[in-house]
Amino acid sequence: MKSFTSAALFLAALATASPVKRQDLDFVFQITGFTASKIHNSGFCDYDFDVSVPGLLNGTAHCHAYLDSGFSGATWLANVYEGAGNCDKAGITWTFNDPILEEEDAHLNVTINGYKGLYTIPADQIIVSANDPENPFDEDVFYGGPEDFVITKFEKVEDKEE
Ligand SMILES: *[C@@H]1O[C@H](CO)[C@@H](O)[C@H](O)[C@H]1NC(C)=O
Ligand SMILES: *[C@@H]1O[C@H](CO)[C@@H](O)[C@H](O)[C@H]1NC(C)=O
Repeated sequence: MKSFTSAALFLAALATASPVKRQDLDFVFQITGFTASKIHNSGFCDYDFDVSVPGLLNGTAHCHAYLDSGFSGATWLANVYEGAGNCDKAGITWTFNDPILEEEDAHLNVTINGYKGLYTIPADQIIVSANDPENPFDEDVFYGGPEDFVITKFEKVEDKEE
């Protein structure tokens, strides 16, 4: 009898620890005002957006990053590596990667309270303009897709409680 109870408790504990409970995913990440662009005649890139997640996040968080892509002639947006993407609320981190190859899609990940939202930005939404064909150091790069979108694909990541 006792061992049966323990087994039942153990199974209950396993169920509680399962990666993603269906009822937990009753939300989407709402991104608004997303902008990403390389500063003219500079390698630096500026990223800015707001995120709100009713049911998971209290209020709206403002997120920002300012990072160097390497050089002013870059035809890609700088990598926002783990730790570089922050917001004005605790418990949120984000990353962004725009592959150097122009035909490859870019990716935005936003992690909130242990849920990593995955979003793909189609390659054709990253606009590159060669301002001066004679000057390889004068390239503008910016995100030209919709400023508002929702993230609906998630992974459960280990909670880092603070
Ligand atoms: C949400 O934020 C507001 C304003 O900062 C605060 O007053 C409230 O207590 C917060 N609610 C929760 C559930 O954290
Ligand atoms: C986003 O998360 C996915 C899945 O964990 C990972 O494969 C990908 O490299 C991440 N991308 C960025 C830009 O961090």
